[in-house]
Amino acid sequence: MAEEPKRIEELPGISSTLSKKLREEGYTTIEILATTSPAELASAIALSERFAKQVIKEARKALGFAPITAAEFFELQEEKPRLTTGSSNIDQILGGGVPVGAITEFSGAYGSGKTQIGFQLCITVQLPPEQGGLGGKAYFIDTEGTFSPRRLIEMALALGKDRQTALKNILVSKAYNVDHMLLLVNEARSLVPKENIKLMVIDSIASHFRAEFVGQQQLPARQQALMRYAENLLKFADSFNMAVVVTNQVLASPEALVSGSSVIPALGLAWGHRPTHRIFLRKSRGNARIARLFDSPELPEREAIFFITQNGITDESEE
Ligand code: GTP
Ligand code: MG
Repeated sequence: MAEEPKRIEELPGISSTLSKKLREEGYTTIEILATTSPAELASAIALSERFAKQVIKEARKALGFAPITAAEFFELQEEKPRLTTGSSNIDQILGGGVPVGAITEFSGAYGSGKTQIGFQLCITVQLPPEQGGLGGKAYFIDTEGTFSPRRLIEMALALGKDRQTALKNILVSKAYNVDHMLLLVNEARSLVPKENIKLMVIDSIASHFRAEFVGQQQLPARQQALMRYAENLLKFADSFNMAVVVTNQVLASPEALVSGSSVIPALGLAWGHRPTHRIFLRKSRGNARIARLFDSPELPEREAIFFITQNGITDESEE
């Protein structure tokens, strides 16, 4: 049997002009092509929808989108590395750390530690796998203007890393609105493989969506935009085998979903189904925080204690 195509250039019927155009527009892998809709591809590359359909069909054929057995699925999952949060307590409730190929959400009130966890992951992702990292770079998308290189340096030094190298391995973009957030994800499709990015952090997913779509009337439009964004993120996580972490704000609710708190994660139920794992953070005494895994397809609801210290996210209070 002939070898399956591995690069988009090897797909049947793709000219060098077309493959160049595809790469320019971010369709850099067969996986991305295979999970794109004909309408999207047609408008991105200025093709007829019929031809776009053909290209996508070839990509799907190359991947062999056939079902696999649960045993094979299990094996694939077991092979997937996990990214440490810096706290082995949090790692444990997540089944070993933040997974690749999935979206992990950290929500909580102000000061609960969402951004700090995002920063910490930007450092730990650079560690080799035997130290709980993914041996790659991080891409931090800041929507709230709280990115802090100074804090990242503290966390890097605490792990014995060179500060310059650590900072050079973190790319950052400020996202100005919802459209810009979508654009950044699309552009990242060529950036991620080129830069060996293994983690994308969106801090936060909530602020622009909540600010731009106000009131009951705009709820359907917000849900639609949010779903499109989530779909893009998930595709991303899956096709590049990378970790995607989003932070989410909270809103007051009389029927708090998460016990021990009067607030729930923002953005509603439709968004709530998107992250694979959802973790709710709350303040405890001093610099202690509680992380509660409350929604996961494979893990029980559990809580873990962690601390925010000078050194970053840890299991031990320094003070
Ligand atoms: P919002 O973005 O406001 O919703 O909150 P957040 O959940 O992102 O909060 P963040 O992760 O920024 O956590 C802020 C908390 O981290 C502060 O209340 C401090 O307790 C702690 N913190 C931040 N920097 C340091 C530091 O350098 N040393 C120590 N010990 N704690 C810090
Ligand atoms: Mg924050």
